[in-house]
Amino acid sequence: MAKQSTWFISIPKRWPLIVLVLFTLSTAIVFFIRASIGTCDTDNRIHLITQVGEVNNPLSFMKSKLVLLVSHELSLSGGPLLLMELAFLLRSVGTEVVWITNQKPTETDEVIYSLERRMLDRGVQVFFAKGQKAIDTALKADLVVLNTAVAGKWLDAVLKENVPHVLPKVLWWIHEMRGHYFKKEYVKHLPFVAGAMIDSHTTAEYWKNRTQERLGIKMPETYVVHLGNSKELMEVAENNVAKRVLREHVRESLGVRQEDLLFAIINSVSRGKGQDLFLRAFRESLQLIREKKLQMPSMHAVVVGSDMNAQTKFENELRSFVVEKNIKEHVHFVNKTLNVAPYLASIDVLVQNSQARGECFGRITIEAMAFQLPVLGTAAGGTREIVVNGTTGLLHPVGKEGVTPLAKNIVKLATQVERRLTLGKNGYERVKERFLECHMSHRIALVLKEVLQQAKEPHIM
Ligand SMILES: *[C@@H]1O[C@H](CO)[C@@H](O)[C@H](O)[C@H]1NC(C)=O
Ligand SMILES: *[C@@H]1O[C@H](CO)[C@@H](O)[C@H](O)[C@H]1NC(C)=O
Ligand SMILES: *[C@@H]1O[C@H](CO)[C@@H](O)[C@H](O)[C@H]1NC(C)=O
Repeated sequence: MAKQSTWFISIPKRWPLIVLVLFTLSTAIVFFIRASIGTCDTDNRIHLITQVGEVNNPLSFMKSKLVLLVSHELSLSGGPLLLMELAFLLRSVGTEVVWITNQKPTETDEVIYSLERRMLDRGVQVFFAKGQKAIDTALKADLVVLNTAVAGKWLDAVLKENVPHVLPKVLWWIHEMRGHYFKKEYVKHLPFVAGAMIDSHTTAEYWKNRTQERLGIKMPETYVVHLGNSKELMEVAENNVAKRVLREHVRESLGVRQEDLLFAIINSVSRGKGQDLFLRAFRESLQLIREKKLQMPSMHAVVVGSDMNAQTKFENELRSFVVEKNIKEHVHFVNKTLNVAPYLASIDVLVQNSQARGECFGRITIEAMAFQLPVLGTAAGGTREIVVNGTTGLLHPVGKEGVTPLAKNIVKLATQVERRLTLGKNGYERVKERFLECHMSHRIALVLKEVLQQAKEPHIM
């Protein structure tokens, strides 16, 4: 499911460290709040004279509205977490929010339990997906948000004859770009909803094309909404003390020195994310450096997102490659983690090597840029809409053709220190300009306004 699962909430193992980080954060937060007001709302001065508490919140018109959020599942992957963020944004302006999870395992699940608790704590009501309460809420709601293509299954299964009454107020939020989502059973109602909200232009184009060519259906009004970094992530990214502590700690645990150069790929390990091609490029870059006898610090590749149980064959293939090519000392595998900030704080360059059509959006990319990291990315999908080639990072082609260009880009960033730092700074500026939570709120607000308007217009049933 929506596997751009690189936005994680933090469930830290090392409490003492985190306590230290949080402690140092508290002083930064004040600065952060000031900074964020300055960057997000400069075009919005009129709102400054409105009531305190509603100052500049673009979603404040959602106050007292009833919104039903339909999630296909409740897990720590990107899709559900994003919907939860939306739930909290809406709660913060006084929206009445009801959450339902369509697919729930029958046995109690710790993750689901803790996520539900988090929502209840913040005033989100959690209803059973299939009950009369869910149907009544859907009929009464001002707006229904379906999250991911798969959530479409809920409509017929639960609403039954009520489906036509609900469709005109449905906003369908889509975060995926793979063939198996283009199934009629998931998306047949898509043409009749008020709107679709999609994370990147590339993905929106792809949906337009594929629904038409594969299924013969037309997309509804479609809005592209780029995502933004959470405030929590920005707080760490902008705190130099926290970053230094995390950097020292992670580097020590990996057994690398402070001056070594770390290139990391942070994604669930799978062929689609291109860790194999990255390691080939990394090895080629080591050879180039040796051939040219370049003087520089030791280089390391860090693969964050390992899960031996999920992709055993591919994981083994990566490890054999590393042994075979004799680069074991330079390559580090890190298990999948819910907390990416420590790794972003400790590396020098992020590699985004997603293959084929690339990432739908690729949230790790804007997270890395927040940490002033340059990005070496494939020229595909959402990455192209985030990374400015030559300004905030360097792009290379997908597939085997991309291996040598990526290797050369690795050498470039390894040898040209000034350039590397400049690309990172530019990336940070770009995040501050357009990839913060407040930007995302602003974009979502525009969409919600349109959809509410649509829902009010008379419809032929
Ligand atoms: C849709 O996709 C097909 C196959 O990928 C491609 O050949 C075609 O040009 C695309 N059409 C549009 C309108 O983009
Ligand atoms: C990583 O995960 C594997 C199982 O998939 C486990 O055996 C190993 O201990 C984990 N490593 C760390 C450092 O937690
Ligand atoms: C990125 O820029 C470099 C030169 O700066 C160029 O050679 C390369 O073709 C560009 N790649 C893309 C995908 O635009």
